[in-house]
Amino acid sequence: MTMMKRFFALTAPAILLTGSAMAFDAKKGQEVFENSACMGCHNTDTDEKRGNAPALKGLYKKEGMTEAKVVDKIKKGGNGMPPYEEQLEKADMENLLAYLKTL
Ligand code: HEC
Repeated sequence: MTMMKRFFALTAPAILLTGSAMAFDAKKGQEVFENSACMGCHNTDTDEKRGNAPALKGLYKKEGMTEAKVVDKIKKGGNGMPPYEEQLEKADMENLLAYLKTL
């Protein structure tokens, strides 16, 4: 019985986490990416920078990259990146982040 309890205590949060991650749609996020002109500046399929815009391929694998940094950059922009805080609905932002994680 204690074993069972321990099992649920460990797996239930994991199931909740994967469940919520799947609620956001990378496919829709790709549409947001394409419709928000992101692709006009950023490469997603090569590591090559375009102008000042770093490639977003492997974004989350870049050293020191965190979700907070990505969100902050998209919302506030800066250094040649336009701010998107006003344009993106919360769901668009979540889907966009789900898409960026697949790169
Ligand atoms: C007009 C060109 C332009 C557009 C459009 C643009 N960006 Fe950027 N983006 C940049 C530049 C330039 C930087 C680098 C800024 C810096 O060095 O601080 C950047 C940085 C970023 C970064 C940080 C990457 C890193 O490796 O540090 C992310 C994430 C990002 N952009 C995502 C997006 C998304 C998502 C969109 C669309 C919603 C978008 N960008 C639209 C030019 C652009």
